[in-house]
Amino acid sequence: MKILITGGAGFIGSHLAAYFINDNEVFILDNLSTGHRSNVDFIDDAHFIEEDVMHKSFVTELIKQKQFDIVIHLAAVVSVVETINNPINSQSINIDSTLNLLEANRQYNAKLKKFIFASSAAVYGNTDELPKQIETFIDPESPYAIEKYAGEQYAKLYNKLYDLPTTALRFFNVYGPRQDPSSPYSGVLSIMDKKFKNDEPFTFFGDGEQTRDFVYIKDLVQAVAIVIDNEASNGKIYNLATGTQISLLQIFEKFKLIYNKSISYQFAEPRSGDIKHSCAEIKGLEALGFKPQYDIVSGLTEYINYSKTDK
Ligand code: NAD
Ligand code: UD1
Repeated sequence: MKILITGGAGFIGSHLAAYFINDNEVFILDNLSTGHRSNVDFIDDAHFIEEDVMHKSFVTELIKQKQFDIVIHLAAVVSVVETINNPINSQSINIDSTLNLLEANRQYNAKLKKFIFASSAAVYGNTDELPKQIETFIDPESPYAIEKYAGEQYAKLYNKLYDLPTTALRFFNVYGPRQDPSSPYSGVLSIMDKKFKNDEPFTFFGDGEQTRDFVYIKDLVQAVAIVIDNEASNGKIYNLATGTQISLLQIFEKFKLIYNKSISYQFAEPRSGDIKHSCAEIKGLEALGFKPQYDIVSGLTEYINYSKTDK
């Protein structure tokens, strides 16, 4: 199959590309704003398109010409803080580009078998209800969350109105190799890993008792593959997570065991707007055959072993 991954040079996209390249022709469209060409050095230049997903005429022409079977749309402003600082810009990238891509496929790509949109647990906001269910009250707390909600709803609507085979996945806290730890708002496990690696102090925002549903990148890849193979997922939205939660303090203990050492730590004020607990209901994906293969120990062990050998 011919697959297009927008944002394919980033953390999640590079793993999807590495998996699908085995049996498929994979194209990546990425402007390298946060991604890296080196993340996907197994993709040759003919299949790597360095371009902005906002370039509407280019993207439309690409869809027309290549007639992709699968489009996985990941390219986005991924930083919540950046969307708060510059909501107009992020809305163009996160909503307009999604709509343009859906429309280009509707008009020009009769071969399309699946369009996947990367949504986020952010759409749930700060609601107390656990586990988070697809129908749970939605309460976006940032432009990012609104933009992700708009994107997934457009994907759903394009199925309903035009029968486009779309699926949206609400990613929870994804972790694994190639997640960039460089910003204070990077995924917490990539930051904790960097601190352990460099023997630097880790800061818990709050008391460290907050929990998250951390999903290992290979389980995310498994879920995407299942959704692609399953027509029953058309027009649907799913939580992509493990259905379990663990606190940061417990995770810190796991890092100590796997690294076989400890580092110093401190506690600081909780981040404003931080949610205390997060855990997903994953019945929807389970019904399609999804079963997480990694618990937090096996996922962290694989991640840390990779990270130790990484520069
Ligand atoms: P990432 O920053 O590693 O990847 C995003 C990629 O998109 C980068 O390679 C970047 O260069 C590219 N990109 C950004 N703007 C672009 C543009 N205008 N044109 C072309 N390419 C552009 O982030 P990630 O963690 O791999 O996230 C992938 C997707 O998953 C995003 O849509 C993100 O919102 C979503 N998501 C991620 C998580 C998580 O835990 N990592 C959680 C929820 C949702
Ligand atoms: C994640 C997403 C965010 C989304 C939200 C929805 C990432 C990077 N962010 O945010 O886009 O809106 O889910 O549920 O995936 N922490 C520390 N020390 C640190 C860094 C973080 O204690 O150095 C804490 C945070 O305060 C938070 C927890 O760790 O309580 C997880 O933080 P983070 O990885 O940024 O993810 P979320 O806040 O869950």
